[in-house]
Amino acid sequence: MNVVVGITGGIAAYKAVGVVRGLVLAGHDVHVVATEAALRFVGRPTLEAISRNPVHTELYEGVAEVRHVALGQRADLVVIAPATANTVAKLAAGIADDLLGNTVLASRAPLLIAPAMHTEMWEHPATRANTALLRERGVHLVGPVAGQLTGQDSGVGRMAEPDAIVAAATGLLAPRDLEGRRLLVTAGGTREPIDPVRFVGNRSSGRQGAAIALRAAARGAEVVLVAANLDIDPPQGVELVQVGTAAELERAAREAAGRADAIVMAAAVADYRPVEVAEDKIKKDETGDELELRLVRNPDILRGLADARAEGQIVVGFAAETERDRERQLELGRAKAARKGVDLLVLNRVGWHEGFATERNAITVLSGVGTIMAEAEGTKAEVADRILDLVAAALPPSASRG
Ligand code: C5P
Repeated sequence: MNVVVGITGGIAAYKAVGVVRGLVLAGHDVHVVATEAALRFVGRPTLEAISRNPVHTELYEGVAEVRHVALGQRADLVVIAPATANTVAKLAAGIADDLLGNTVLASRAPLLIAPAMHTEMWEHPATRANTALLRERGVHLVGPVAGQLTGQDSGVGRMAEPDAIVAAATGLLAPRDLEGRRLLVTAGGTREPIDPVRFVGNRSSGRQGAAIALRAAARGAEVVLVAANLDIDPPQGVELVQVGTAAELERAAREAAGRADAIVMAAAVADYRPVEVAEDKIKKDETGDELELRLVRNPDILRGLADARAEGQIVVGFAAETERDRERQLELGRAKAARKGVDLLVLNRVGWHEGFATERNAITVLSGVGTIMAEAEGTKAEVADRILDLVAAALPPSASRG
């Protein structure tokens, strides 16, 4: 992959050599764009030898080949390490007064920055506002970490170690195997109103579904995320449709399903909803010591989508079971895969302390006929990638429909 490494003028620039080396060793074609200030901290010959490519600094070099945009356009990833407080501010404002600023603006690739500065600068309201804005735009940050700074002082502001930066960069250089595909992902948990202030709900945070949406977008897919009551900040870079109830989720999902090459139903949809929704808040003195709530079944949205699917469309369902016995869990999963008519069924165990609102997950993926296709354990992003590997493999070669 083509990686631009931007180096700006902080003492940590000497550690950027390790970042360049790590990326080259991982097999990437690395192009260094160093600011003038960066070259006061680390020598051009070192960077050229390690990157095996010329180092670019000057905005007015290579004008004939329109280098100020070419580097950014060609990049699959832009990494800026170190990113000084000044660079962070310039990125937030979209300033392009040097080659690196132009390269960033001319690039549609993911941007990873490794800030490095003194603690006071990192904690300054201006820097905090700038980093918040960059995060909101989908810029990835690695570090800074706490530790010894350049002077006698220590604190947060130290650049992340080169290995951590290379690992973060590698994670962003996902295969673009979903380029041109459209995915519909549902996430979160539906809430069925009882009255204007109460609902019947579940503990799904939406983390796993959101991670699938994010990773699919990173792999090039156009993603519609139908999100029911997410407990987390909605992911960037996807089309977000917010819904509350199962009926709203069904409407939104049906609308997006027609254009989707694959449907991933990670949302926890309430199986039942109250038969009646009280117009006003139900009062204790009117109901007495017991309140009877009558519930009615919600439609099985997944099954409906699977039944109506177009040829070649891949449908993925989820099954959250509290069953502890592995064989019994697989049995339940196989029955569910058949009943729902899905291509893939992702099984995960849930319980009082597992599955929900955690950063990690462990899954088993079954095919429609119950074969174990994959088992994965890791962060929800890692698990998302394993599921997407199976989706990508199952999609017909030119599944993209107009
Ligand atoms: O039957 P169960 O609720 O275990 O099935 C879970 C799968 O079915 C999930 O993919 C969930 O999104 C979907 N589902 C649905 N409509 C419902 C209930 C569940 O689409 N009413």
